[in-house]
Amino acid sequence: MSLRHLIDLDDISPSVLDEIIDLAGVIKENPSYYTDHCHGNIMATLFYEPSTRTQMSFQTAMLRLGGKLIGFTDPDNSSVSKGESLKDTISVISNYADIIVIRNSFEGAAYAASMFSKGPIINAGDGGHLHPTQTLTDLVTLSYEKGRLDNLTIGLCGDNKNGRTVHSLIKSLSKYPNNKFVLISTPELKVPKYILDCLKANGSTYKFSESLEESISELDVLYMTRIQRERFTCSDEYETQKGVFVLNAEKMKLAKKDLRVLHPLPRVDEITVEVDDDPRAKYFEQTEYGIYARMALIMKMLKTPSFAPPERPLATHTSLTCKNVRCITQTENYLPTLLKETDGELICKYCDHSN
Ligand code: CP
Repeated sequence: MSLRHLIDLDDISPSVLDEIIDLAGVIKENPSYYTDHCHGNIMATLFYEPSTRTQMSFQTAMLRLGGKLIGFTDPDNSSVSKGESLKDTISVISNYADIIVIRNSFEGAAYAASMFSKGPIINAGDGGHLHPTQTLTDLVTLSYEKGRLDNLTIGLCGDNKNGRTVHSLIKSLSKYPNNKFVLISTPELKVPKYILDCLKANGSTYKFSESLEESISELDVLYMTRIQRERFTCSDEYETQKGVFVLNAEKMKLAKKDLRVLHPLPRVDEITVEVDDDPRAKYFEQTEYGIYARMALIMKMLKTPSFAPPERPLATHTSLTCKNVRCITQTENYLPTLLKETDGELICKYCDHSN
């Protein structure tokens, strides 16, 4: 049996990704046509970490497709609080649900879950690693709001180190021709090495910036993110990073007339409320596109037998363990170590960190 998971958007071929984006647009135009498409199916939403949009948009998407829901929003109200492992939780719930959506604070948790599930797993965010369905939402938004996914200059501003939405978005947009990236952050919050490696591997043009004011005029898309307080081990460090980059009406005056401002939300203080009324601000529309994107994804995963991601390359099992303290292998210690050698480096298959 071919397991059909979405851990990373790389799991989907470009043509299937285009199909999902197109289907999201079709659903948007005629949502009532799809009200029974997942009748009889059950989705489990397992949120080990807080969420508003991802959780509720998945739930809304499934309900609008005629499906049903089970799950938890707080692991403390589940047997996770009694010490149940990820393996056991997934092994049980995949007997109950046809598809499982999981968010967890450890990097690689969704990949680990996919090893034990009878049905498809969707990664709804694994720590500071990846967030593929937010990127699907972003791609649908850009398709509509910019009319293209190529030939764009994209600024990513904020917490580029810990922002999983940033990582997934760069991975996807760097595959489209002639996209350029302006990585706007403090030196401490630059993108991780595996994202730089991806930009280089895809031959993308990119540069670093420490000034939103200086960079904004060249951008077609500005993707703002909050500083991810929950990823900091030291509150003083968070205090020095927050509030460095703030998009306000003054800075919007410097931007192109057809700039599009996206933000995965939640917002803290990095976009002032006055910007909400600027027609170039699309972050609330983005949340609506997220419903259609997730409806299209769920339908593809549940209803298209041919939709199967390519087999993941066999990883190397070794006696080493991943050194990333945020890797799922640190807490679920029955997991096999999976390290693959790339250019002389050992990369963890769960979290992409080099060891
Ligand atoms: N964009 C996003 O992941 O938001 P939530 O954390 O509210 O799900």
